[in-house]
Amino acid sequence: MKVAVITGTSKGLGASIAKLLMEASYHVIGLARNENKALSEADLAGSYIHYKVDLADLHATEDIFAAIIEDLKEKPIDSLLLVQNAAMVTPVEQAGKQDSQKLIDHVHVNLLSPMIVTNLWLDAWRGHLPLVIANVTSGAANRSVYGWNAYGSTKAGLDRYTDTVAVEQRELGTGNKIFLFDPSIMDTEMQSEIRSADATQFVDVDKFKAYKTNNSLRNTDVVAKVLVDRLLDPDGIQNGEYYSVKDVFK
Ligand SMILES: NC(=O)c1ccc[n+]([C@@H]2O[C@H](COP(=O)([O-])OP(=O)(O)OC[C@H]3O[C@@H](n4cnc5c(N)ncnc54)[C@H](OP(=O)(O)O)[C@@H]3O)[C@@H](O)[C@H]2O)c1
Repeated sequence: MKVAVITGTSKGLGASIAKLLMEASYHVIGLARNENKALSEADLAGSYIHYKVDLADLHATEDIFAAIIEDLKEKPIDSLLLVQNAAMVTPVEQAGKQDSQKLIDHVHVNLLSPMIVTNLWLDAWRGHLPLVIANVTSGAANRSVYGWNAYGSTKAGLDRYTDTVAVEQRELGTGNKIFLFDPSIMDTEMQSEIRSADATQFVDVDKFKAYKTNNSLRNTDVVAKVLVDRLLDPDGIQNGEYYSVKDVFK
């Protein structure tokens, strides 16, 4: 059977990735704090199971992944995908005005949970089957944007982490592939959160409001298809590569 574990499937890009993989007969295990009834009730070739978890809670995250792995080990799996998509953009605020707990949660969700999950995942499946891991990044990893000090830092950290794990897997000759996917700007709740900041928190807020009014934000199904097309052709995936939706839509 073909299995995909995807974080952040309650809405946005993660929900679209899950739907497209279910259409391609994947059994999807989705994780988020909120459920996704549309996916649970969808009549598609694949199936959907949801695990409710707050990825800011690292012990809960470890426990859920340990349970998922234990369950999957009982099954005859011939394709196993992990898509680490869940992230938060908040706090959108200049350094010096942030709540420490919000910063802690941000780093846990965007950076530490993918690191902890990748570590568990590689250990659990060593010698079983070649793995494919996609980590969803952002252009914010490569430029400094006023108000996005947390987001830019955690996405840059995720980029370096992914690249380093790719180097290790190559050197170890595991055949595992881990890569980055940059979805660029999409019409999701994350974008509404960005637009709700004021100019003292995020200087580019008017530019982002214009993206919405000018219809510049891509639909998540369109973006997800670019990633899913790659996931469905594992031989064509380059370990450690940085793929972008802009590889297809300039
Ligand atoms: N939207 C854009 O323009 C844009 C641009 C570049 C990169 N990206 C990246 O694309 C990915 C998807 O973004 P999106 O726009 O689809 O975001 P979104 O609409 O805000 O959805 C985020 C998903 O992550 C989950 N999530 C967030 N915090 C979580 C937590 N503490 N525990 C568990 N799940 C959590 C959410 O589920 P719950 O709230 O139910 O927990 C939701 O399913 C992210 O990695 C983002 O950084 C987005």
